[in-house]
Amino acid sequence: MKRIAVLTSGGDAPGMNAAIRAIVRKGIYDGLEVYGINYGYAGMVAGDIHQLTVDDVGDTISRGGTILYSARYPEFQEIEGQQKGIEQLKKFGIDGLIVIGGDGSYRGGAALTKLGFPTIGIPGTIDNDISGTEYTLGFDTAINTVLDSVDKIRDTATSHVRTFIIEVMGRNAGDIALWTGVGSGAESIVIPEVNFTMEEVVKEIEDGRKRGKKHTIILLAEGVMNGNDFAAELEKYKSFHTRVTVLGHVQRGGSPSARDRVLGSLFGYNAVQLLEEGKGGICIGIRGTQIVFNDIIETLETKRHVPYLSLYQINKEISF
Ligand code: F6P
Repeated sequence: MKRIAVLTSGGDAPGMNAAIRAIVRKGIYDGLEVYGINYGYAGMVAGDIHQLTVDDVGDTISRGGTILYSARYPEFQEIEGQQKGIEQLKKFGIDGLIVIGGDGSYRGGAALTKLGFPTIGIPGTIDNDISGTEYTLGFDTAINTVLDSVDKIRDTATSHVRTFIIEVMGRNAGDIALWTGVGSGAESIVIPEVNFTMEEVVKEIEDGRKRGKKHTIILLAEGVMNGNDFAAELEKYKSFHTRVTVLGHVQRGGSPSARDRVLGSLFGYNAVQLLEEGKGGICIGIRGTQIVFNDIIETLETKRHVPYLSLYQINKEISF
């Protein structure tokens, strides 16, 4: 292996730059040439590919977003797009690829693997919804960003004795709501992975109020329903002086946490090593403190991300 490339695709996530930096630096340290592909798979197909130097990734470890830009490119699901992508890689003399992203990015990586192109996947998404890893790049920073906002919201919720529904991202996964719910002591956590009834939520609010609580925080995952619909449902049962905050894309930005910088560095370093060992078709993850390697096709086809659901019950027992 002489020349490798890296791209980021799907929603950006803090820590992607740390991974890109590690890939470039480790690759060059080992005598490889490292290329960056702008705008994910769209850039690959368009040939938006350029060599990266040691200096290109200087001062990037602390920056949010992705210096390689990102894009969602559904056309890459088609064989024509995949073949065009491989043609471009070959035109640039690239023999191995690292993709950093979420589910869609992994699907692209799996397709390239099936076509015989050595590809490694690094899980990068704030949603933490990728199988084959306990944590994805960006999740830790995102939950810290959410917590910072929830702490501020609680001040005003208390002053006005209000119920706040805080809608957080996560697509179909509840990890962001689950972890920030526990981290903020939310009275209620509503996530797609656990069935709930409005009666339960009403009871949680009322129990808190009876004990003299001045605020109620409900952490709602966007995968359940949007915050305004949830508020309308709740109001059908009882009026709680409710306000809705949709945190939105603020959750995707910002300087990566220490954990995401280290995780990005570890993932990037290991991805290069795998390609150097002639291995492709692998996605990298972390379990406990161990970096783990899984078959990317099998992981997509047979494994499903399961959130750390014990947290849900624990929160019920400590945040009432
Ligand atoms: O996958 C990351 C994510 O931020 C999800 O949490 C969210 O549902 C989605 O991307 C938003 O996508 P976009 O930025 O394309 O609107």
